[in-house]
Amino acid sequence: MQEDLSKTLIHTTTIFARLDELATQITDDYQGKELTVLAIMSGSLMFGADLLRRIPLPLRITCLSVSSYHGGTTSSGHVKFHQTAFPDLHGRHVLILDDILDTGLTLQTIREKLHNETSPLSTKICVLLRKNIPERRGIDADYVGFDIANEFVVGYGLDYQEKYRNLPYIGVLRQEVAAMEL
Ligand code: IMP
Ligand code: MG
Repeated sequence: MQEDLSKTLIHTTTIFARLDELATQITDDYQGKELTVLAIMSGSLMFGADLLRRIPLPLRITCLSVSSYHGGTTSSGHVKFHQTAFPDLHGRHVLILDDILDTGLTLQTIREKLHNETSPLSTKICVLLRKNIPERRGIDADYVGFDIANEFVVGYGLDYQEKYRNLPYIGVLRQEVAAMEL
């Protein structure tokens, strides 16, 4: 897998150090409240597992499976929900967890659906990565692990055509790899 990357962007030790900081911040912010984490699958699998184990609060975890890329390296512009019933998060403090904020379409669609179908007490967003792109829609995250350049990255939960999620660090996918398979 390493040979498909042009470079390692964020090493495991750097990820873990940042997760310690994020977890402290989230723990302080939700002190005394009951938190429900809505983890967006499959991108937030590693991130969520490592982050949530650092948060010593009583919390619930609910998963939601969506896709917006359909295999390529640019957003399809359409967010597909893989389950019919949206979780009931009425009256809960919801923290949405996702791997990366790119155009913002995915998180905006999820947040809208969350507010249309159920009525949470509060909603915040936590992402591991945020891409530096000017065309992002009207949404931002409350907690961000790392700001990165506009490159296609994989590893630590992030995929290209469902591969590379199990890399323990984050790397930039070589352009030839994506081009070969398109
Ligand atoms: P958005 O809707 O454009 O914000 O895209 C968000 C989703 O696209 C993320 O949850 C990822 O699944 C995927 N995505 C965006 N950028 C990347 C990337 O660089 N690598 C892998 N997946 C990405
Ligand atoms: Mg993905």
